[in-house]
Amino acid sequence: MTLAGKKIILGVTGSIAAYKAVFLLRRLIEEGADVTVVMTRYATNFVAPLTFQVLSKKPVYSGMFDPDQGKDIIHLYLNRGADVILVAPATANIIGKMANGIADDLLSTMLIAARCPVILAPAMDYEMYENPVVQKNISYLRNLKIDFVGPETGLLASGDTGPGRMSEPDDIITFLEDKLGIKGDLSGHTVLITAGPTREAIDPVRYISSRSSGKMGYAIAEAAKSRGAKVILITGPASLTIPQGIEAINVITAEEMLDAVMNRLSDSTVLIMTAAVSDFRPAEKAISKIKKGEAINLKLIKTPDILEEVCKKKGNQFVVGFAAETEDLITNAKEKLRIKHLDMIVANNVSLPGAGFEKDTNIVTLIDKEGKIKEYPEMPKSDVADMILDNVISKINKGYNG
Ligand code: CTP
Repeated sequence: MTLAGKKIILGVTGSIAAYKAVFLLRRLIEEGADVTVVMTRYATNFVAPLTFQVLSKKPVYSGMFDPDQGKDIIHLYLNRGADVILVAPATANIIGKMANGIADDLLSTMLIAARCPVILAPAMDYEMYENPVVQKNISYLRNLKIDFVGPETGLLASGDTGPGRMSEPDDIITFLEDKLGIKGDLSGHTVLITAGPTREAIDPVRYISSRSSGKMGYAIAEAAKSRGAKVILITGPASLTIPQGIEAINVITAEEMLDAVMNRLSDSTVLIMTAAVSDFRPAEKAISKIKKGEAINLKLIKTPDILEEVCKKKGNQFVVGFAAETEDLITNAKEKLRIKHLDMIVANNVSLPGAGFEKDTNIVTLIDKEGKIKEYPEMPKSDVADMILDNVISKINKGYNG
């Protein structure tokens, strides 16, 4: 919720990229912003105002002289108290109007009257974007300290490739946060998280796995992202939606998870290993389906211990492991912390009703490498995620250096 309490005017102009403004609005709302949408008349041809109204839970403004606007001078009233006006998509037309002082509709009038920062996210075909007049307008506005985010070079609505593609909503949000001076406490960190189960094939239709749903790891990924971290989520098969704005790497087996973690280890500053990795795999995978018979003997061999391998190779990353236990919680967790050379371990008794696999809550005990133990009550996994990150960042701020 990095934008909580921020009042944002989202201006939407008449470009096909107006559909992306819907996703942008959703992300702004998710981050806690108070958003008022102002659309140009042409924008309403691309997306119905009702879409923005439902998502923002507020009226959408378009006209200067709508009869139901009462006694307020609408363009001044809407601008009052705004932290930023963000125009996304911004067409060549709105850029041109702003650069030349033209105020002939609600949005262009608000831009001329603005007393807050203005950010424009251009979207147009490359032929328009490269036009010298458009370029002159952009440089003129840049000189006046108007900010531009994008455009990107890529596939355009015309089917051509070139500059003019509106920046992605997450990139616009990052730009906005920088502009507003918002830095989460994990900003500058890259958090690598393993989540979910792994699967080890017995034959083409059967596998060995665990009951992990991935909920704990995904909750940490989401919390770390909203606290400003870059997040790499290495996930085994889980039926959860990848949170917005994070890089996800999908893996199936323990070997694949180990490779993925090793590949990205040097990019990270914090590692949080929530995955319930399958500890064994069949010594051989049958190429065709094993037919049912009386009984079969499966020879199982050990999979690599990812956390142990990582801790042998790591630099000064802060490493958090999990311990899924059903008995002797503290003793077993302390032993894992010691053997795997962790900085912190999150122990949970997975047999308790409010804890462990597939649940939305967890009951955990945190143990650090100095042996300090903190017990927590049953909490939603999203709160457990923030609590773990609070502890990690407090250790890092106290001068942890691997
Ligand atoms: N882990 C891992 N690779 C494995 C097994 C576990 O990286 N092959 C990690 C888990 O992600 C977790 C920690 O090690 O962070 C402890 O996992 P857990 O399943 O509790 O314990 P194990 O080490 O597998 O030991 P045991 O099954 O004997 O309890």
